[in-house]
Amino acid sequence: MKLIPTPLKAEFYEGYASQTAKENITINPGLESEEYILSVTSDSVNIESASEKGVFYARQTLKQIAMQSERLPICKIHDKPRFEYRGFMIDSARHMQEIDEIKKIIDVMSMLKFNIFHWHLTEDQGWRFESEKYPGLNTKAAVRKYSDFGTTINNKPYGRVYTKEEMKDIVSFCKDRYIDVIPEFDMPGHVSSLLHIFPELSCHGNAVEVKTHQGIYNDILCPAKDKTYEVVENILDEFCEIFPYKYFHIGGDEAPPKQWEECPECNRLKAEKGLAKWTEYQNYFMNIIIDYLSKKGKDTIVWNDAAKGSNLDKRAILQFWKEGYTKPSVEFANGGGRMILSPFKNYYMDYDYKITPFRKTLAFKPRLSGLTDEGYNNVIGVETPIWTEYIWENEKLERFLFPRVIAVAQTAWSEKEFGFDSFVDEIEYITKLISDKGVVFEDTSEWGYSKYTTALGWLRFVNEHYMPSKTETDY
Ligand code: ACM
Ligand code: ZN
Repeated sequence: MKLIPTPLKAEFYEGYASQTAKENITINPGLESEEYILSVTSDSVNIESASEKGVFYARQTLKQIAMQSERLPICKIHDKPRFEYRGFMIDSARHMQEIDEIKKIIDVMSMLKFNIFHWHLTEDQGWRFESEKYPGLNTKAAVRKYSDFGTTINNKPYGRVYTKEEMKDIVSFCKDRYIDVIPEFDMPGHVSSLLHIFPELSCHGNAVEVKTHQGIYNDILCPAKDKTYEVVENILDEFCEIFPYKYFHIGGDEAPPKQWEECPECNRLKAEKGLAKWTEYQNYFMNIIIDYLSKKGKDTIVWNDAAKGSNLDKRAILQFWKEGYTKPSVEFANGGGRMILSPFKNYYMDYDYKITPFRKTLAFKPRLSGLTDEGYNNVIGVETPIWTEYIWENEKLERFLFPRVIAVAQTAWSEKEFGFDSFVDEIEYITKLISDKGVVFEDTSEWGYSKYTTALGWLRFVNEHYMPSKTETDY
């Protein structure tokens, strides 16, 4: 029997359950929250778990079994995940997806036993979270004048927010699939859309456009202004009403300190707080927000750019993406801080299969070098992001995700490792189940690249996305 992600223990015996076999569900509070024991006998299908969540996972496993056998084989499966945090991220800011497309992806991710949908909702190129308090976010911050991402240009205004009703609909859809939705309000960088309606939250106070091109921008929030905290906290309050979960993401990536360096108020505050470096100044700001969210009962996730400053609040959870910051990130985890692994070279799904071969995603081992046993215990899970500067078609989104995310699902749930060929063989049935939902897979001719990124792959990427724009698109 081919089951993905691999259950902890699965035994299959001679014989089948009868057509009239009854399903029995036993709640056993002694089990862990996602653990289940599934036993099929000749006259019963028994699921034992601590909660409905375990029952859900048992049924997901049953679907894969049913696909492979007309009659349910007698078996005993004891299963629980390796990691409590099994995430996927969609950037809905650079390009938006319709609610139905997001639901389609979520549904399939739940078959792979992912339990976190990290929703990237705020960006330089557009604001996607509807706000009651600040309607300018909905009308102005959400819309860029045109889109110029590399070789393509679209001259029409682009973007809108997701309404509260739409976001609640996603939350409710996820709830049925035992997936928590973790919104990201990225700060203090990647905030051009916010600064477009609140220029006074920047150091310079000048007009800021919603960006029309990919990149890292100097327009960031000024931590030396009271109004920055007032606006950010009011928006966070609105986010927390829609997303009632334990985790919240506040970004923290790619915030160049150039404008802080030139800002007298930032310089004064940095000196007053005795902060040696701008990275520490950034964490001074992040820590205030982490504390604010903590008082609202949240654990805050930040990208591992924040590890560069030594003063990050230990209550934060570091999301490792940047290898350049491996050493301080590993030290953070070894010193008691929690970590999520999203290694750029393996788990970023926005690159094609020549740059990020399927094998390379499968090959990632979450035991980062330098992690002590305690550090590894502080790795709460893994997450695979997809950024969408160059992805505005559902079909491309799906092709870039599938089949590579199946390898992430395997690592997230199970310690069992596969060689590439045996993994491709093992995913046969889950691939069929996912395709039946209408999801487009990358053509199998693209699956087999070596685990080494080709220089040619990168050259093509740079040529496609960083040359002056030429082709007009009409999305
Ligand atoms: C990131 O990729 N900027 C987190
Ligand atoms: Zn400033």
